[in-house]
Amino acid sequence: MFKDSFKFYKAKWPIPDFSDVLDFDNCTAKGIKEFGLDVDSIYEDVLPGLKPVYSWKCYEIVDRPGLIFIRNPFTPQGQRYWMTRCIRDYPKSPNVVNLSKKLFSQSVIDDWWNSFQNCSDKDDKRRMKVAMRWTTLGYHHDWDSKHYSEKMKNKFPSDLAQLSEFFSKALHLGKYSAEAAIVNYYPIGTTLAGHTDHSEADLEAPLFSFSFGQTAIFLIGGTTKEEKPAALFLRSGDVVVMAKESRLCYHAVPRVMKANLESWNDFPSVYKCEIEPPTNDWDLDTQLFENCADENFWSPFRQFVNDSRININVRQVLREGQLSL
Ligand code: OGA
Ligand code: MN
Repeated sequence: MFKDSFKFYKAKWPIPDFSDVLDFDNCTAKGIKEFGLDVDSIYEDVLPGLKPVYSWKCYEIVDRPGLIFIRNPFTPQGQRYWMTRCIRDYPKSPNVVNLSKKLFSQSVIDDWWNSFQNCSDKDDKRRMKVAMRWTTLGYHHDWDSKHYSEKMKNKFPSDLAQLSEFFSKALHLGKYSAEAAIVNYYPIGTTLAGHTDHSEADLEAPLFSFSFGQTAIFLIGGTTKEEKPAALFLRSGDVVVMAKESRLCYHAVPRVMKANLESWNDFPSVYKCEIEPPTNDWDLDTQLFENCADENFWSPFRQFVNDSRININVRQVLREGQLSL
């Protein structure tokens, strides 16, 4: 059943019928339920780049318990900040990237974006762009053994840890410690096959997934591949939390397609100059945050996301109180 849906939405031609895809921009869609957050005063101090918590649109899918969807709680500047971190900063050594030593020089593997920017050959550049498919942060997942280990671990970016903690708190999901992340890069037309994420020692802590750039169709099924999955659109800024019953459910990305609207390029006057620059309370890169409002600075990143989707998938690896693997 899962496979059938995957094949259906993956099809290049004829273009499949999207009328069963849950669209959170269409609030009358059947099978989704909006819920409110009780917002207490601590959320007045919102992480820069996020809209105020009281304005977030949060949903559940009626027959997919445990799954939470938040429709783009990011400001345009916030979206640009996280995209730039994913494109420019996160794929740098000692973080691990998928680029093969057989195909790329060590300098490309160590600092992919810098090499990409300085590459003058059009074909090489194209090759470098489509080859970049993932970066891992914190505990690096070993894709062969499907394990994490203390030997394969680097410092987790503190800005991304704060972002995840902020969501966990705002959604009343309890204490959260972001310890591993996979940043996925999806050129339009690429897919991610059905799988479950079960390598973490703590399989109860939720999984936070942040989507930026072009639009995806996301499938979320049950704990077996026999169950027919629900399909939903994931657009730039959307947040999916796989908590509780949905934590170990099959999911996939059968399609990445061009977005209708580029919300990351749409700076309405209210967000033109973000309320205040980040204060010391937050570990954001203040200079980068400010640069993201500058079209010249943004231009190469804008080109990158013009035909790509980025997904940040954050996990807590250790159980509460556990100090190491
Ligand atoms: C993953 C994952 C989903 C997405 O990285 O494990 O499920 O939306 N990503 O890209
Ligand atoms: Mn996954």
